[in-house]
Amino acid sequence: MTVIENPEGADTTSGTPAALRIHRPGTRPPMQPCAAEGGCPFQLKGSVPGRSNGVEGRTLQHHGPAPLVELPGGVQARVIVAYDLALRLTAGRDVSRSADHWPGFRDGSLAVDGVLRQWASPRNALNAEGEEHARLRAPIQAGLTPRRVREMTPVIEAIVEEALEDLEAIAEASGVVDLVPAFALRIPQQVITRLMGVPSALMGQFGQAATGLFDTSAGPADMQRSMETVLELLGEMVAARRAHLGDDLVSDLIRAAEQAANPLSDEDLLAQLMLVVIAATETTVHAIGTLIVHLLTHPAQRALVVSGEVSLDDALEESLRLQPPAASVPLRFAVRDFEDAESGQVFRKGEPILIHAAAAGTDPDVHTAPGVYNPAARPAASTSRSDTDRTCAPAPRWPGAK
Ligand code: HEM
Repeated sequence: MTVIENPEGADTTSGTPAALRIHRPGTRPPMQPCAAEGGCPFQLKGSVPGRSNGVEGRTLQHHGPAPLVELPGGVQARVIVAYDLALRLTAGRDVSRSADHWPGFRDGSLAVDGVLRQWASPRNALNAEGEEHARLRAPIQAGLTPRRVREMTPVIEAIVEEALEDLEAIAEASGVVDLVPAFALRIPQQVITRLMGVPSALMGQFGQAATGLFDTSAGPADMQRSMETVLELLGEMVAARRAHLGDDLVSDLIRAAEQAANPLSDEDLLAQLMLVVIAATETTVHAIGTLIVHLLTHPAQRALVVSGEVSLDDALEESLRLQPPAASVPLRFAVRDFEDAESGQVFRKGEPILIHAAAAGTDPDVHTAPGVYNPAARPAASTSRSDTDRTCAPAPRWPGAK
């Protein structure tokens, strides 16, 4: 069994700049032979402080388009590292995000504990498919509109300006600024609490519990406690908002959930709110953190961004390509036995599958210099975002693909 360690990269949670590596540009790494019977699973050990998912992804590329990995709890999964295969699987109908396709998971006969159970269990938009997905997602879509995001812009600008002013004060007082709590985490946390309309009396408590959800050193019991606290606080907010509906995301979700043809239960509503808290915070913290690291460690690219020759959007997209905050979320499942004709990769019904965005984003069949941070070379398509919800849509086809 091979354990992936990361001697050279870092994530922003450790506060250490990532060491970016140029990985033999333009050549797919040679396949490593595997002697183990039934495959050669890597261990993906979950969150390891100091480990970069970019380096993890490029290590996995040595083992074909879909190597076998072992996840926490001993669960085996196929991890997709080839860009084209990732696009085919996410766009096709052979793979689902619903754990209903995971034999034994729902009835409890499959022993899956800890982090995987917590991610795969909730009935939320991230883990659903088809009509159930549409039903669970509808209230989020009704509340998280471009209008609301536009209206939030001055609020977000004020939050950022205040955080920047405080950075100077922190630097003067202690000489050292940890950008994660002082900036990268503070901004999305304040934005999401304002967006949701968290009452100011609950802000501190909510922020503390929400931070606990992302504590990579927390054990299962601590994690469970944080989940319960956030759910409890969200429950209190829903009850309070029901009494006095306002102009905030929670009120919009309540209205949409109640007006739906098949109204959402309180449990379903809380699961969608929890999804928004998790999906919006942890991702953005690392998007901001890794962008800062990339710009600080690439002065020439930074100068292009400052001068306006390269857009900040491209700088961010390129940073997300190399080190996406959610490298392999969500867990997916093969809904039937099938073979991907182009790669020849076979999948078995019920087999868990992870799309490794960090590996797919640095696929040497697509990029001539996969590991290089180069926002100036991004295709024009990446900046042409529409006003609709594109935040979490799949990446566009890379025009330079070989
Ligand atoms: C840089 C920031 C972000 C990244 C990298 C990111 C990444 C992702 C990824 C990888 C998924 C799974 C997509 C799939 O199934 O293939 C997802 C889903 C989702 N994200 Fe984000 N996200 C970000 C920001 C946000 C924000 C700010 C919000 C809300 C305010 C949000 C809300 C959601 C929701 C609701 C889903 C489930 C969508 C559905 O399947 O219907 N995300 N995101």
